[in-house]
Amino acid sequence: MTHELWTPESWKTKPIKQWVEYPDPVAFEETVKAISQLPPLVTSGEIEQLRRELAAAEDGNYFVLQGGDCSETFDACTSNTITSKLKILLLMSYILIYGSRKRIIRIARIAGQYAKPRSKDMETQNGVTLPSYRGPLINSPEFTEEARTPDPHNMLRGYAHAAMTLNFMRSLIDGGFTDMHHPEYWELDFVNLSEHSREYRHIFQSISTSVDFMEIVAGKMENTAETRFYCSHEGLHLPYEMAQTRRVPRRKNWYDLTTHFPWIGERTRQLDGAHVEFFRGIANPIGVKVGPTMQPDELIELTKVLNPNNEKGRLCLICRFGAGKVDEALPPLAATIQRERRNVLWICDPMHGNTHAAANGLKTRSFDDILYELLSAFRILDREGSHLGGIHFELTGDNVTECTGGARGLTEADLLKDYQTEVDPRLNYEQSMEMALLIAERQASKRR
Ligand code: PEP
Ligand code: CO
Repeated sequence: MTHELWTPESWKTKPIKQWVEYPDPVAFEETVKAISQLPPLVTSGEIEQLRRELAAAEDGNYFVLQGGDCSETFDACTSNTITSKLKILLLMSYILIYGSRKRIIRIARIAGQYAKPRSKDMETQNGVTLPSYRGPLINSPEFTEEARTPDPHNMLRGYAHAAMTLNFMRSLIDGGFTDMHHPEYWELDFVNLSEHSREYRHIFQSISTSVDFMEIVAGKMENTAETRFYCSHEGLHLPYEMAQTRRVPRRKNWYDLTTHFPWIGERTRQLDGAHVEFFRGIANPIGVKVGPTMQPDELIELTKVLNPNNEKGRLCLICRFGAGKVDEALPPLAATIQRERRNVLWICDPMHGNTHAAANGLKTRSFDDILYELLSAFRILDREGSHLGGIHFELTGDNVTECTGGARGLTEADLLKDYQTEVDPRLNYEQSMEMALLIAERQASKRR
């Protein structure tokens, strides 16, 4: 397989999961062509920079914080939503810097997280069966035939919304949004409710003192260049990814220029499948979700197909087993990766193995399960002679009520207060901050 010629279209010869048929193939081809002629959303220079940083993370010098919505919507492409997403990632990253004493690579699930894998192709309501909703890149959520029919123009709308999002993100960062001089804006009411409030206050105090100290030594901190954000999404809908996959002048490789960091989802990582075929040929750093059914041999094979030269900075294994499975599933995989000397960066996604239905039917996740899986991943990878190089969350900067637990003790009954997600439940602002604080505490105490 690896010896076969790769082209941006060679995935079309392989079996594909999560595929959709467009009723109008001409409009589909025209849209793909239109996107392929538009300017790229990110540049190869930024992608190469991320690869270098991820390579340094494999050596333990950086730590990855990846997070954002399960699925973005076009309606949520607003100033407030984008700002609050960046803000929560930024604040979490400062807390993690305090804990790890490492630089943080911030990767948002943003500007393209528009396509969702579904467990069922069709959905039935009151005796009517229609195609499942697959994210705004493909169809619309309303339960009508028209809305659920895949419309190729959604790909063009996806490109446009990703471009608008990135444009605003870049301006915010250039304009000094990432200024960390004002911890008083950090909205820390929840801290009083936590049994860890003393430790938390200590962390905030230390961050504030360090900023003051650095400024005395080095002058006012201009943090724009250092507070980079990268974007990422699941590379699920291959026509969209392919449309922006190009060679650029003076570089020999092909880049998927829709995003810096695309990943392969748990449902589309088959060794002989279309997604692995597409991803093996692009030069971006990439992720692969690794769930409980993954076998050690299969994982090694996958690392060889996706990273044949065993380069650092190329491949992140994003593990997502669930609190009940991580202790059993991760050790053999981690041991095999070490034994075979495969260069990878382990990132833990403690969200996707921990989803369950609450008594009222809403999909939820518990703060304690999420924390348990994360702490297990840290411990297991250390014990196997590797290390956890990053964490991956579904979160939002708003105070939604989608996950239970945390300092405020959200219960299943509280979920109805402000449950917004159309797909998976996210940690809210306070729960995300608290998660970062607990991890920072662990990292700091390991150093002591
Ligand atoms: C996701 O990250 O939203 C997702 C669908 O994850 P997974 O592929 O791990 O199930
Ligand atoms: Co999700």
